[in-house]
Amino acid sequence: STGALLDTHGRVHRDLRISLTDRCSLRCTYCMPEQGNEWLARESILSTDEIVRIAQVAADAGITTFRLTGGEPLLRRDIVDVVRRLAAIQSPDGPVQVAMTTNGIVLAEHLDALIDAGLSRLNISIDTLQRDRFAALTRRDRLDDVLRGVAAAAASGLRPLKLNTVAMRGVNDDEIVDLVSFATEHGAELRFIEQMPLDAGHTWSRSEMVTRDEILAALSERWSLTAVPGRGGAPAERWMLDGGPATVGVIASVTAPFCGACDRLRLTADGQLRNCLFSTHEFDLLPTLRSGAPDVSIDDALRRCIWAKLPGHAINDPSFLQPDRGMNAIGG
Ligand code: GTP
Ligand code: 5AD
Ligand code: SF4
Repeated sequence: STGALLDTHGRVHRDLRISLTDRCSLRCTYCMPEQGNEWLARESILSTDEIVRIAQVAADAGITTFRLTGGEPLLRRDIVDVVRRLAAIQSPDGPVQVAMTTNGIVLAEHLDALIDAGLSRLNISIDTLQRDRFAALTRRDRLDDVLRGVAAAAASGLRPLKLNTVAMRGVNDDEIVDLVSFATEHGAELRFIEQMPLDAGHTWSRSEMVTRDEILAALSERWSLTAVPGRGGAPAERWMLDGGPATVGVIASVTAPFCGACDRLRLTADGQLRNCLFSTHEFDLLPTLRSGAPDVSIDDALRRCIWAKLPGHAINDPSFLQPDRGMNAIGG
């Protein structure tokens, strides 16, 4: 079949999030248990040839952005090669973009090579600027490495540069202004994220979650906020700080879901297509890839996956069930 990757609710899909590994160098309490998870079996992890093949079929079907996620994508040994080969892909609309979401820990070491390979954009996760808090939250004392990563990204001139912060009550909600100031000093946009029920311990609770409105109230005490129009399918609502040019974003997946404009499709490190962070059904590409099936079978799986997509998540329904797969194996 041909034409755009359209679902039954009229949404055209342009963004493929590719999880390269479920492993991570941190153990953020909201993502993984202390001891880690049972890792995906080595033989089920997609090879780089397999990823590139899926990506080319997706690009032919109208995907224009690949976002590399994990776990931590920089733990993949051939990460520079992955970026180089994905960046070389052409879509009918021209060259694709290759973006990455990283915890920043080994970013400083890899950054020049990634940019040389064609990386377009970076989002770096940083939930606190305080060393003791970072160590408690991530169970690893690596804040200095993340700060080096952010500094390297800022110095590289790669823009837009975004920093992600999951807002947590009693953990980092007193750092909202500090984090934004830190980001703007680095020419980056800080985005606060409402915590979603995807934590390993299934301990998420609505009252622990810091909401969009609470974040905006804290920001308003320090800056005047002017909404930036033209959001498109982006998860973040954005505001200019004191008239700009600095901006801040909020990703309010729970209290103000953006599902109606969602243009995302996900590929897990073990070759499963997911039409939503919260989907309970996956479309397994491994048999297709490893049985010598033609590209049209991959295209068909992409279309079947998207056709099954629900209008939105059900976090706010009483019957909501968390997906079996953890955040580290979905890719965020
Ligand atoms: P940009 O394209 O730069 O805006 O990246 P992004 O915000 O889509 O990606 P990133 O990996 O930085 O994710 C930031 C936050 O948005 C994370 O908490 C993701 O889980 C969340 N997120 C990304 N895509 C979706 C989505 O389709 N639905 C929901 N509910 N959350 C998403
Ligand atoms: N809710 C919201 N965001 C989350 N992330 C990880 N777990 C959650 C969650 N339960 C964020 C990470 C990273 C991005 C990929 O997703 O902090 O910034
Ligand atoms: Fe898309 Fe699902 Fe996220 Fe909604 S919750 S925006 S449908 S991935």
